[in-house]
Amino acid sequence: MLTFPALIISLILGFLLNPMNSHLDSLATSRILLLTAHPDDECLFFAPTVLSIQRRYPSSQIYSICMSVGNADGLGVVRKKELEASLDVLGIDQDRRWVLDHPELKDNISVYWNPDVIASVVQPYVLEHSITTILTFDGKGISSHPNHISLPNGISHLVATFPSNASSPPPRVFTLITVPLVHKYIGVLSPLLAKLDLSVGDLLARAHIAGIGPPSIPVAISDVAQYRTALRAMQQHSSQLVWFRWLYVSFSRYMWVNEWAELTLATPTSSQRSPTPLAI
Ligand SMILES: *[C@@H]1O[C@H](CO)[C@@H](O)[C@H](O)[C@H]1NC(C)=O
Ligand SMILES: *[C@@H]1O[C@H](CO)[C@@H](O)[C@H](O)[C@H]1NC(C)=O
Repeated sequence: MLTFPALIISLILGFLLNPMNSHLDSLATSRILLLTAHPDDECLFFAPTVLSIQRRYPSSQIYSICMSVGNADGLGVVRKKELEASLDVLGIDQDRRWVLDHPELKDNISVYWNPDVIASVVQPYVLEHSITTILTFDGKGISSHPNHISLPNGISHLVATFPSNASSPPPRVFTLITVPLVHKYIGVLSPLLAKLDLSVGDLLARAHIAGIGPPSIPVAISDVAQYRTALRAMQQHSSQLVWFRWLYVSFSRYMWVNEWAELTLATPTSSQRSPTPLAI
């Protein structure tokens, strides 16, 4: 009678203790730029991908640009330092990370940033470091924060206006898929469900069932060790650790699972604006 629960528990532990990735090769090019809006986005939303790339693709170099110091509450100076400490934990080198503080790109929950300004501010970094992939938010911006939503639009613009005489081609762009709210806060269940998805898809593909297979989008799923690294990165953001952020951190799917869609110029992201953005 004890074996069934034991089997379930060992299955769950097995799932949690092993990272799992799918189709990350298309993301993990040689020089990857993570583009975020505010200090703490890097660990709240993107840690599974950063940590998976570092483990699986050690020759890929990860760069980071945070577009603002997060000064909406006047804590910009503090938050910039917290971001540095967080990026130390996530293993992004000091000479590959920048925090911008542009007058037209201020942390503000009621402001959409101008795509032209984003493109012109980011382009020099992309050219100088021959960035091959840019990772950023999608058109729903995870929490519907207008600053997040602005980033894929700005990067579309960057790619569309990429100088033809540049020494490297325009980067590929991937956006972090915003999942429906019902999936967003299921915390520790999300790596389990996401892995189950991948495994079942895999089985079906092996059984040659036409039209069904593992999702062909890039997916990164953290294991417990990677989750704890993300948590440690989040702990560097002391000024942000109010109780509701702890709740977020405990239950958010993005602390465990990242799914990516490639942004192509044929299908630019539309800003899907929500009247009630969350301040995350
Ligand atoms: C945010 O933008 C709105 C509208 O432009 C402005 O009224 C407000 O003062 C700004 N807030 C901050 C913190 O700058
Ligand atoms: C590309 O052209 C622009 C002007 O059209 C020029 O300013 C820039 O220096 C050129 N870059 C390279 C790498 O040749």
